[in-house]
Amino acid sequence: MEVYRDLAGLRAALAEARAAGREVALVPTMGALHAGHVALVEAARRPGACVVASIFVNPKQFGANEDLSRYPRKEISDIAMLTDAGCDILWLPPVEAMYPDGFATNVSVTGVSDGWDGAARPGHFDGVATVVAKLFNQVRPARAYFGEKDFQQLAVIRRMVTDLDFEIEITGVPTQREDDGLALSSRNVYLLPEERAKAVALPRALGVAARTILGGGDTARALEDATAALVAAGFAVDYVALVDAETLVADPAPGRRRQLLAAARIGNTRLIDNLAVDPA
Ligand code: PAJ
Repeated sequence: MEVYRDLAGLRAALAEARAAGREVALVPTMGALHAGHVALVEAARRPGACVVASIFVNPKQFGANEDLSRYPRKEISDIAMLTDAGCDILWLPPVEAMYPDGFATNVSVTGVSDGWDGAARPGHFDGVATVVAKLFNQVRPARAYFGEKDFQQLAVIRRMVTDLDFEIEITGVPTQREDDGLALSSRNVYLLPEERAKAVALPRALGVAARTILGGGDTARALEDATAALVAAGFAVDYVALVDAETLVADPAPGRRRQLLAAARIGNTRLIDNLAVDPA
């Protein structure tokens, strides 16, 4: 795997790959990689493709009281993991290359960014959309891969790609989980052992709510029960909601794809998860 830290070097390598007829696929990440990220790289791999992963801990998507300074950084093991996963190029831009003095542009996707994590984390999705738009222009991939784990983020990116005419095919990759159901996340390392044990309540609560709603049970009651189960496990709940899987508005209209979304804090760690409410 080739590693680039300057845009000119990256662009020269990509020009060479394109000249050789290779299709470029992008997997944006913030590093501290785990099997969830590896699943994105594996989904991106195709015969003859050039898979680019980026690692950039994007300051613009962290709030003032969030974990930017303590966000886990693991460059050496990340490089080993990407190499093993068959990634071709790693783009590792320094922060000065992404946001040089004078940087003044903000990409803001309204509507789909507004509720849920957008409400809980003001400015977060502007930061995500801005950095992803930049990564798209730097790498100019034909395809890009994002995890369904960050369900609202995926919806924001899809909206941005449509609205700004990025000629990029976006693929959402199913959430990769631990054996007990907890979604893999770089932030899981923050969990103390007793918090980790309790965290399984999050996917369990969503599973119970999805089954109740699919079985024709009352939605409001199912969401209340999920919230109560999380509180009983020691979580402080930000939201548990049933939303339209495309627009993310609450109370989806009949016939629309539905998704359960949840965010909850245990100790100092904020976890998110989501689950489709579809007949299997
Ligand atoms: P990060 O949290 O590092 O995640 C990078 C990608 O991996 C995202 O698309 C995320 O949804 C996906 N991912 C994380 N955990 C996953 C899991 N358990 N299963 C499947 N996919 C998973 O998301 C970001 O970084 C940033 O916001 C970024 C898009 C890179 C912009 O800065």
